Amino acid sequence: MRVLTGIQPSGDLHIGNYFGSIKQMVDAQKENDTFAFIANYHAMSSGNGGAELAKLTMQTATDFLSLGIEPQKSTFWVQSDVKEVLELYWLLSAFTPMGLLERAHSYKDKVAKGIHANHALFSYPVLMAADILLYSPDIIPVGKDQIQHVEIARDIAIKFNNKYGDILKIPAFKIEEHVATVPGTDGQKMSKSYKNTVNIFGEEKKQLKTIKKIVTQNVPMEEPKEYENCNVYNMAKLFLNEDECKELQERYRRGGEGHGHFKLYLHDIIWEYFRPYREKREYYQAHQDEVRDILEYGATKAKNIALPMIEKIRSITGIRY
Ligand code: ADP
Ligand code: TRP
Repeated sequence: MRVLTGIQPSGDLHIGNYFGSIKQMVDAQKENDTFAFIANYHAMSSGNGGAELAKLTMQTATDFLSLGIEPQKSTFWVQSDVKEVLELYWLLSAFTPMGLLERAHSYKDKVAKGIHANHALFSYPVLMAADILLYSPDIIPVGKDQIQHVEIARDIAIKFNNKYGDILKIPAFKIEEHVATVPGTDGQKMSKSYKNTVNIFGEEKKQLKTIKKIVTQNVPMEEPKEYENCNVYNMAKLFLNEDECKELQERYRRGGEGHGHFKLYLHDIIWEYFRPYREKREYYQAHQDEVRDILEYGATKAKNIALPMIEKIRSITGIRY
């Protein structure tokens, strides 16, 4: 099965990104033909650009390789290295009713938050549709916030196929229910924009400071505590197996320990979980040329799929004359 996803190079990765998207991709590599790219064109739609964008693109590539994307198993590239996606974006625009884009929650939310609405932000889902449809994937693993974008890609593909026949593959999305939304330090969805993240790669002291800020109930040390709605427990369980979860639940029920203890425990398990990935990241940070070579190799593999597809689309749409 072909699985495809895009990642915006928008800053430091957090454990919401990890469980909501990266881990799913890494796991998918075992049995699937995995396609993953850094969506640097998309990042421009929220005002990113210049040297900072170039830096974040390399940082994101480094982070993903460190977290387990394997260039031999997956096709891993930077969106702008396969420019045919922009051509398809235009061709699909002609199959995109304005109303479809006007209904996009993500666009409306961003405008409501005060992001200046430009055309790139508005037409973002069309570029995302091109990202998907150029490579004919079966499945797009996404967090809940991206489902509507995949639905838009499906709508556009159906309209295109209605006119030209069965050219574009209709993609499906997949969300992992138990990690659908990872909570942040304040209990809301973890997100960079809410400043409630626990980052994957940071200094140990900073991580501990963040974890100590997690909002918990005020219950005396000796009393039993509720774990179901505890933000510390809900974050910890992402890293634990069934037995370890039960053990932690027991510690909550038993009383005698405060939330401070559970926070220290949470810090330790997160720090240990990412230790091997941190080591790999140090390697890639010291070998950025290797990262560039991997991306170039990935772009070549992506083009092997994209070029015959765009050629077919050029012919059928009459752009090839
Ligand atoms: P942020 O909200 O921090 O800006 P992004 O929008 O860049 O994160 O998300 C990148 C990927 O990570 C997307 O697939 C998104 O659905 C997933 N993701 C982000 N935050 C979470 C979360 N709290 N829980 C689950 N998945 C998440
Ligand atoms: N919009 C996605 C996000 O913000 C990133 C993305 C761009 C993407 N193109 C894609 C995801 C294609 C899946 C498929 O997370």
